[in-house]
Amino acid sequence: MKTFTSAAELQQALREEKSHHNSIGYVPTMGFLHQGHATLLEKARNENDIVVLSIFVNPLQFGPNEDFETYPRDLERDENVAAKAGVDYLFYPTVHEMYGEEPSVKVVVQSRTDCLCGKQRPGHFDGVATVLTKFFNIILPDRAYFGKKDAQQVAVIDGLIQDFNFPIQLVAVDTVREEDGLAKSSRNVNLSVQERMEARELYQSLLKAKEAVESGERNAAAVTALVSEHIGAHTSGVIDYIEVYQYPELKPIETLSGHVIIAMAIKFKHARLIDNITINIE
Ligand code: PAJ
Repeated sequence: MKTFTSAAELQQALREEKSHHNSIGYVPTMGFLHQGHATLLEKARNENDIVVLSIFVNPLQFGPNEDFETYPRDLERDENVAAKAGVDYLFYPTVHEMYGEEPSVKVVVQSRTDCLCGKQRPGHFDGVATVLTKFFNIILPDRAYFGKKDAQQVAVIDGLIQDFNFPIQLVAVDTVREEDGLAKSSRNVNLSVQERMEARELYQSLLKAKEAVESGERNAAAVTALVSEHIGAHTSGVIDYIEVYQYPELKPIETLSGHVIIAMAIKFKHARLIDNITINIE
């Protein structure tokens, strides 16, 4: 595995790979790698000649009162995980390498952001789209891998790839969970012991909603009420949102039909957790 901190040097190395017609699979992350990231890497390893991993805690996608400073970081550990996963190139740029003194151009996402995390985190998806535009141009991958845990992110990046004509195939990978159902997340380390026990209830509440839908419930308000009651009764977390939408369009719905997403964000003391489930209604 070769580690690069310079975009120009990485570009040079990847140009060489491209000249040998090697396909490139790319996994963007903010590091503190866990099994969720490892699963994306594994898939990229299976489907491409070359695997590129980026680790960059992107300041542009954090709000002023969010956890940019305290976001967990551990490069040494990440390097071990990456090497084991068969990563060929690790890109680990500084903020200065990515943005210089101040970026002169930013990408603004026009749709699919006025709900869910987009509504709670203004500017967040502009930051995600801006950094990915840069990474896509630096790496020029054939395929890019994203987790369905961040379902709105997948929808937004799908729009970015279409609108900006990136010749990149987006591969969306199922959410990887702990044994008790909690979606793996770098932020889970910030939960207290008690909160970690309660956090399993996020997925439990989604399963309860899924069961209700499978038994015929079609009323969106009834489904969100069911999830909200479960979270209120079983956790000390504060509900940021619990919402039901058509997916991937993220259009609000009153009656469930077709492909729908039930998504939530719950705030614990030092960690805001998100999770979702998508259901195909025949
Ligand atoms: P990060 O939170 O590090 O996640 C990197 C990728 O791993 C994302 O595509 C995310 O959806 C995926 N992922 C995280 N937890 C997962 C899980 N439990 N199962 C499956 N996939 C999981 O998402 C970001 O970084 C950033 O916004 C980024 C895309 C890198 C842009 O800065």
